Amino acid sequence: MEFSIKSGSPEKQRSACVVVGVFESRKLTLPAELLDKASGGYISDIIRRGDMEGKAGTTLLLHSLPSTLCDRVLLVGLGKEKEFREKEFAGAIRTSVKVLNETGAFDASIFLTELQVRKRSVGWRIRQATLAALDATYKFEQFKSKKEEIRRPLRKLTLSVERRNELGMAEEALAQGLAIAEGTALAKTLGNLPPNVCHPTYLAEQAKVMAEQFKLGCEILDRNEMEELGMHSLLSVARGSHQPPKLIVLSYKGARASENPVVLVGKGVTFDTGGISLKPGADMDEMKYDMCGAASVLGTMQAVARMALPVNLTVVVPATENMPGGNASRPGDIVTSMSGQTIEILNTDAEGRLILCDALTYAERFDPDTVIDVATLTGACVVALGNVATGLFANKDSLARELQDAGEDANDRAWHMPLWDDYQELLKSPFADMANIGGRWGGAISAACFLSRFTKKFEWAHLDIAGTAWKSGSDKGATGRPVPLLTHYLMQRAGKLN
Ligand code: BES
Ligand code: MN
Ligand code: ZN
Repeated sequence: MEFSIKSGSPEKQRSACVVVGVFESRKLTLPAELLDKASGGYISDIIRRGDMEGKAGTTLLLHSLPSTLCDRVLLVGLGKEKEFREKEFAGAIRTSVKVLNETGAFDASIFLTELQVRKRSVGWRIRQATLAALDATYKFEQFKSKKEEIRRPLRKLTLSVERRNELGMAEEALAQGLAIAEGTALAKTLGNLPPNVCHPTYLAEQAKVMAEQFKLGCEILDRNEMEELGMHSLLSVARGSHQPPKLIVLSYKGARASENPVVLVGKGVTFDTGGISLKPGADMDEMKYDMCGAASVLGTMQAVARMALPVNLTVVVPATENMPGGNASRPGDIVTSMSGQTIEILNTDAEGRLILCDALTYAERFDPDTVIDVATLTGACVVALGNVATGLFANKDSLARELQDAGEDANDRAWHMPLWDDYQELLKSPFADMANIGGRWGGAISAACFLSRFTKKFEWAHLDIAGTAWKSGSDKGATGRPVPLLTHYLMQRAGKLN
């Protein structure tokens, strides 16, 4: 779909469809009022007859309004004006795009972007509208022999702004929105790919392709190189698999060479059976999403490179399968991590932390300003926060604050969880420096505590995305989260958020 920005009045648009909003109950927004006036009260007549109340999620398609230049007008219900906020705004855009795809219109002019959304800027509205529109039209059907065909798909979407002097800012926000949407779509697709296709070697190949396209530094470490570095914790997870593990490193330099990079570390378990501590069979297919941390840091890298943000960014992805097998790690095994700390593996299903700890130690060599890891780490985090918020942990409160704010801004929220020392004792082991599990209670926190033992040398945050990276149910699929949060954080740092 092609996007553009325009400022002008709705009745003068030569367009296949003009989209305007109606608040509950029956209150026309300003662009709807302009169309109504131009057409001699056509819309208010219809509304008076009771065909449109303005409830959120409802729409009404009108044809050939008198004295207007467009073929159609789509009225979109916005709900109560007082309750119209960020979520409702995105919802209205989503609804519009879905309905437009079902009408005959090839192009449309959306006037919803002129609406006030609390104190949000024009830039915010354009960015979010672009993201919501592309999110609503994302499809993953490369494995369907018959693709679902849209008869006359929407090809061109024009987002309108109220004033001409907002055009420049809106154009910039549109470019940002497109970049973030592209990164989000990449993360969704990598997540949705089946685990027989998307294995560690595949992820490494994708990283190489991205490096070529955007002129990024790229290094792929294989098993031998990891062995030499002493990454025995990471390698202990890969033992049961026939797929070779990879450590993927991408680096982007958008700022001065002297500026220390932000390092993003993404959990890349391309399939998690649990290993010898085998998971139950129900819904095990969903463990193909256990590389969504990796997918999201790769998606973020792509968005950042596309925007050419003035930041230095390095992405590290430990990629492996977690399989049972004659050579797999056993509960009770003790391994030495790259940091030198020893770990008693009490449960081979707590594998995420075992690969992340070595990747985090590896991150030290980049002399990072900040390190953020992203992982589908614990079922306990899903119990705590459901599918709404990502679990956020940090060894510095100001970093947690910045990430939480970025999530608010991006409509991709995270919630700050405690990382108090009191929880560290859960990881005590009689035989090694620590155990890899902390027992039943506070599981998301003890997992974060485990990681904190490998991040003492830098400012660090951990995002547990087990509940937010994918949706279950009938329209199951990867969400692409937290690409919007991470890109907003980096844009904020770069001073590029308007
Ligand atoms: N990949 C899972 C976490 C997960 C579980 C994500 C369910 C999404 C939904 C992780 O590797 C895992 O298995 N964690 C265990 C840890 C436990 C053994 C301490 C868990 O959460 O059950
Ligand atoms: Mn697991
Ligand atoms: Zn896992």
